[in-house]
Amino acid sequence: MADRRICHPCASVLMAWVILFGATVLPGCGSLEVTRYYERGALATSAPIATEVGKQVLARGGNAFDAAVAVGFALAVVHPTAGNIGGGGFAVIREGATGQIRALDFRETAPGAAFETMYLDSTGSVVAGASTVGARAAGVPGTVAGLFELWQKHGTMPWEELVGMAAILADTGFIVDNSLADNISSYAAELRAFEPTARQFLPGGDPVRAGERLTQKDLAKTLFLIAAEGPNGFYTGKTAQRIEECMTAYGGLITADDLAGYKAVWREPVHFKFDSLDIYSMPPPSSGGLLIGQILKILEPFNFSGMTPKSPKYIHLFCEASRLAFADRSMHLADPDFYGVPVEVLLADSYIRTRRGMISGDHALLSSDVAPGDVAGQESDQTTHYSVCDSDGNMVAVTYTLNSSFGSLLVVDGAGFLLNNEMDDFSLKPGEPNIYGLIGDEANKIQPGKRMLSSMSPTLILKNGQPLMALGAPGGGKIITTVAQAIMSFSRFRLSPGETVTQARVHHQWLPDLLYLERGAFDIDVIQELIRLGHIVEEREPYSDLQLVYVGPDGLMTGASDPRGRGTSGGI
Ligand code: DON
Repeated sequence: MADRRICHPCASVLMAWVILFGATVLPGCGSLEVTRYYERGALATSAPIATEVGKQVLARGGNAFDAAVAVGFALAVVHPTAGNIGGGGFAVIREGATGQIRALDFRETAPGAAFETMYLDSTGSVVAGASTVGARAAGVPGTVAGLFELWQKHGTMPWEELVGMAAILADTGFIVDNSLADNISSYAAELRAFEPTARQFLPGGDPVRAGERLTQKDLAKTLFLIAAEGPNGFYTGKTAQRIEECMTAYGGLITADDLAGYKAVWREPVHFKFDSLDIYSMPPPSSGGLLIGQILKILEPFNFSGMTPKSPKYIHLFCEASRLAFADRSMHLADPDFYGVPVEVLLADSYIRTRRGMISGDHALLSSDVAPGDVAGQESDQTTHYSVCDSDGNMVAVTYTLNSSFGSLLVVDGAGFLLNNEMDDFSLKPGEPNIYGLIGDEANKIQPGKRMLSSMSPTLILKNGQPLMALGAPGGGKIITTVAQAIMSFSRFRLSPGETVTQARVHHQWLPDLLYLERGAFDIDVIQELIRLGHIVEEREPYSDLQLVYVGPDGLMTGASDPRGRGTSGGI
């Protein structure tokens, strides 16, 4: 498997390892980290079976895109909290043959019958749960269209074979591990509320347990249809009819026309330079790429030598940059097909300089004193990420989601898949926080056919034009700070890929005005210094599930999967 760490190594034994797998001496700890490198391709995903599926595809001669398509469908079977065909997401990709880098947007859209006040009661208050539970919370799913587009443009293996692997997994079942069993059991009450959902995940009335086999026959039928017919097997015919019936039964808005009209869209990625790296990430309707760009560009001139990712001074500056970036998110970011997002302005050197100038090294800002920047008059628990790279220079970073764990909690009866609750990512009402505490305004209001603003940030890094890293994570707004910190840690603090996914995390998102620290990961003197600087500090349980693939200068690849999750990395 991926990372091995050998302390006090015997040099002669290690020579063979170093040649085969590569090695890095960890600064300060006197141990040797030995990482397994792969020649043909490597990947990291949030579920071990999905990683195995990806490896099989690479072993059968498939490229990174083939593996990404197969993993996407496999996760819908083995990682139902977030893996999906009833949700949506984004991919940032590099085509090795041409070096072209593009972003694929398969985010859900608001149904044609959606309207601005659809989650408000007669007094104008948000109705609790209306945008998060059940059929009315669901946007028109994009995953099947997205994965098909990826395959059609870049895949080499037969579509039926790639989707068929997931269909067989659903049909024959797989052995549930502790982590999935815990997930299902902790959501048992919510999953039980919908009869088709209960039948799938609580067979016989009880949550499926670790060590038991979970078969999903209805899901298998849907996947076989998609394998045979492509997107038509989902957006038209029997599956579409099942979705319509589900909408009628549970009061949702998605129609056959919404489904038939869904399109995945290619977009220009956000591109910026940081240190000597070229970074490409997801543009609107994600806020991810722009905010990561703002955070890193604000931090770029600071000298962090002698510091570590746990130094209070660095955490302070990182969080101040994040605070400013998230303030912009609340006002300026939305679906670019509906709202003129000032992408160039928000990343312009002059604008970044102004924002940086607001930061003091000695004292934290108050979020109440920080507003979204003035751009006028200028030009302007659950998501999952996986990364795959191959020896042809292809790179794929995919983040897709149902939104919160198990999405809307509603399985489409007879079709066996969970629907998303992505409508909650719209601004339901100006200033009203969504489930991640993120605030929005006019730009991100609900409109028919519009894509809701996201934080998902699949990201590719190149150095001197060559692949260096594919990465991304789940975590709502914390995705952005997780990815930005990973890049800082790797580039400025020179952490290895394994250390980069493991390192302790901090987060600030402007509102609420809180600096989140991972519980137990920071010494008391660090916390005290941050409080002295004026931060309101709150410890939170570990979060995010970073999955990255690193490509070395010799072209050898390695994956690193976040130890907070149950994922694995591997390769061929
Ligand atoms: O698109 C977004 O930003 C959210 N729907 C992502 C949700 C998420 O990351 C949940 N994971 N923990």
